[in-house]
This record gives sequence, structure tokens and C-alpha cells, in this order.
Amino acid sequence: MTLEAALRSAVGPEHVLLDPDLRASYETDWTGRFSGGSRAVVRPATSIEVANVLAACADARVPVVVQGGNTGLVGGSVPPPGHTDNPPVVLVTRRLSELGEVSVTARQVTAGAGVTLFALTAHARAAGLDFGVDLAARDSATIGGMVATNAGGIRVLRHGSMREQVAGAEAVLADGRIISRLHGLAKDSTGYDIGQLLAGSEGTLAVLTRLRLRLVPAERERAVAFVAVAGTADAVDLLAALRAELPGLCAAELCFAAGVALVARHLGVRPPLAGAGDAYVLVEVAGQSDPLDGLLAALQTSQQVLDATVATAATDRAQLWALREGHTEAISALGVPVKLDVSVPVDRLAELVDRLPDAVGGADQDAQLVIFGHLAEANLHVNVLHAGDAEEVTGAVLSLVATLGGSISSEHGVGRAKAQWLALSRTETEIEVMRSIKTAFDPLGLLNPGVLWPVGS
Ligand code: FAD
Ligand code: MLT
Ligand code: ZN
Repeated sequence: MTLEAALRSAVGPEHVLLDPDLRASYETDWTGRFSGGSRAVVRPATSIEVANVLAACADARVPVVVQGGNTGLVGGSVPPPGHTDNPPVVLVTRRLSELGEVSVTARQVTAGAGVTLFALTAHARAAGLDFGVDLAARDSATIGGMVATNAGGIRVLRHGSMREQVAGAEAVLADGRIISRLHGLAKDSTGYDIGQLLAGSEGTLAVLTRLRLRLVPAERERAVAFVAVAGTADAVDLLAALRAELPGLCAAELCFAAGVALVARHLGVRPPLAGAGDAYVLVEVAGQSDPLDGLLAALQTSQQVLDATVATAATDRAQLWALREGHTEAISALGVPVKLDVSVPVDRLAELVDRLPDAVGGADQDAQLVIFGHLAEANLHVNVLHAGDAEEVTGAVLSLVATLGGSISSEHGVGRAKAQWLALSRTETEIEVMRSIKTAFDPLGLLNPGVLWPVGS
């Protein structure tokens, strides 16, 4: 039997896409920077179907690229660029969209890997709870993709990254065997935690099919402030002050005057507090009772605040959030950016921001730099538009980050975009151990080749 016939028999002919036009949207990433050809796009709906697809690909020795919502920003969800003798099958998980009943007692739920963040959050809220991770790609990003990248987002300060939400996982190995540990026991010390190992594995070890996820209490009241400060150092000091004063602090995001002006132009709105300072901190406080008075009092006593605007009504809060969350689309509207997602120790954040223009300008004089990020984790999103030589700019920025003791990927993953720079953040011994783990899970090297480290390196 041909591979195509085996795939049709695994998932049904209508879910095996062979026509180039039908495959196209699965072969290019969200940014438009990464794309490559596939042999077929396959859309299984159950764990057994995933197992049959992987077994067929393993028999044929054909690589598999795993794709969820295709909102990843490091090129890991699409085939490698250029011609290859053995193009991969793209395995799309979006039809794994089953949502189990919420256990209010355990504060957990089981979700298919293809469930979107939006659907999961709505499901948790309908049961009087909430999901602890949130990010702007919520309408399309899937739970499987978010676990696979250990996604962070805008609530890490309060609830941690995706890894912290995982209470159990089901996954299919490259040869089609299924491992399932979804009981969500609050305590379980029986050796290696495979679900946690898969968090951040970027589709290189196994295909996640279902996740047992922790939920958090829903918070009834919220207030948001958009605060102008002089610069990054003051933003960091403001965060320290607010953390001390506001136990309900759940978001602290950083943006800069040039980026906010860009977003405002893109959205067709007037930027608030224009001219008040070089940097802005978006602060959100949540709780069971109205957090507004506490937020106002904390802002009034903070020396770093130059000016601020505050919102409590949902639509007003959303308008302030749009100035921060709109960065990604506003930047992409200007071209295909080099997107780098880095973190440094918080006391080096101001130095990173100060040194970035020289690092980028030294690599490419015509490049345009736009930065923003998650302040509490000192996680900066470095976007470079009109870069003539993407690799040179990437090398310059990531080397600076390494010099400052930081990470070359804070929350987006390594993917294909940063594979050749992994050694800036991981020791040789760590990479050796990671390779041994990869071989134990996927001895034929069929899952997402070229992600995490370059093929053949
Ligand atoms: P995909 O893009 O499809 O895949 C991402 C990686 O996971 C790939 O390597 C893929 O092979 C692997 N993968 C996908 N599904 C599975 C599975 N079931 N099993 C095994 N491997 C799998 N990220 C953040 O961390 N924080 C943010 O704040 C944030 N904001 C964003 C805002 C916008 C507007 C956009 C476009 C992206 C943003 N992202 C953010 C990036 C992206 O949304 C996350 O990386 C997300 O986790 C990707 O989910 P996905 O389902 O789209 O995965
Ligand atoms: C964000 O925090 O908005 C993102 O991670 C997306 C991006 O980096 O563009
Ligand atoms: Zn982010």
C-alpha cells in the first residue's frame, strides 16, 4: 500500500489533502517568513487516528511536521524550506477538539490537543473557573501547540507558563504507540514525568493528543492602567513597587512610545498619554472585589508614574489592551519581521533595551527595531523590520542576550528560526542529554526534523 493510501485509510480520504492549493495554508507560518513543501496534509480526529498516521509514516520512513493552530512564531509548525527528497507529512491536530467535563472539585479538565485557547477558556468560565494562561493568538492557538511550546503570555506573573497548567498528558510516539496519563493526580512521584518532558518539546518527541489541565479560580473584578514612565529602568522599579502593594496584580506588560504610536496608527485610534514618557507599563489587577481603589492608591504613591489612564469597564479595558496586544499585527502589516523573543535577568533589562539599537544597527543599518514584552519576566519581543540579512541580525541580538546572561527563547520556542543558536543558551552537555532523549522517543528522527537543532548537525 502507498503512504497516501495508508493515510486515507487512517483518517478518511477527505482529511488527506494532496492538492497543492489545499495544502498551501498549512505550509506557511503565521509570519509569512517560514514555508516549505509537504507530501500531504493529514487531519486526524482521534488519538487512534493519530497513531495510525504516525505508524504509516514510520513504515514509509517519511518525516512528520506537527501543526496545531499554526500561530507559532519560530517556524516549527511548517515544513523546512527548500527542496527535499523526502518532504514531510503535515499532521494537523485541530480536529482533536473534544472538551471533557470540568471537575470543579479537582479544578481540572481534559482537553483535546486541537482545542483552541478561546474554547478552553470559555468552557472553564462556564463552569465558574478560568484558565491560567492567556495570549493574543487565543482564537487560533491550540492547547497542544501551547504545551508543545511552553507558551507564556500575559498572565505568567499570576499563574505561570503552560507547563505549570499541565496535570497530565496523552501523546503518540513516532512509531504509533500511545502513552496516556490523564488521571490528574494531585500527587504522583512514580519516576519521570513524561507530560512535563513534552512541555516545550516543540513536536520533536511525540504528538500530544489530549491534556489534563489545571484550572484557576475565576476573578470577578478587574482594573487596567496604562502608565507612562521615563524608561525601562523606571518600568522595572514600578513593577517592584506594584508587586509589593497589589496582591491581585495579574499582568505587567511593557511597551515603548514608538511601538504604541505604530499600533495606534494601525488601529486608527489616538495614542493615550502621547509625549508623557518613553515607555509604558500596562498593569492589570484582578480580584473578587473591586481592585480600582487599591490600584489608584498604588499608582499615586509610585515615584515612577509620569501619567496614567485607568479603565474598569470591559470595553475600556479592551481598548488599553489593544495598544499592547496590537503590536504583533501592526508590525506584520509593515513587512515580514525577524521576530526574536528573549529574556534576561530583570536587573539587566534596561541595559538590553539600551544596547539593542547598536546591536541591530551594527548588523544592518536599514533595519527598523520595534520592541515590547512581558515586564514581569523581563521577556522582550525584539522585532526587526526590513532586515537585509536576517541571520546576521539574529546573531547580533542573540549574542547580546547571551552576554547579558539571558535566554534566546523566552516563550516562543527555538523552532527552526533559532536552532543554530541553541548553544548560546544551553551547554554542550545539556544538548547531548536533549539529543539522547530525542533518540529514546524517536529513534528514526522522524518528528519535526530541523526543529531545536539543524538537520545533520
Ligand atoms: P503551532 O504554531 O501549530 O505549533 C507550534 C509548535 O508546537 C510547533 O513546533 C509544532 O510542531 C508543535 N505542536 C503543535 N501542536 C502539537 C501537538 N499537539 N503535539 C506536539 N507538538 C505540537 N506565544 C507566547 O508564548 N506568548 C504570547 O503572548 C504569544 N502571543 C502571540 C500573539 C500572536 C498574535 C501570535 C500570532 C502568536 C503569539 N504567540 C505567543 C505564539 C503562539 O501563539 C504560541 O507559540 C502558541 O503556543 C502556538 O500554538 P499553535 O497551536 O498555533 O501551535
Ligand atoms: C506577544 O506577547 O504579544 C507575543 O508573544 C507575540 C509577539 O511576539 O509578536
Ligand atoms: Zn509574548
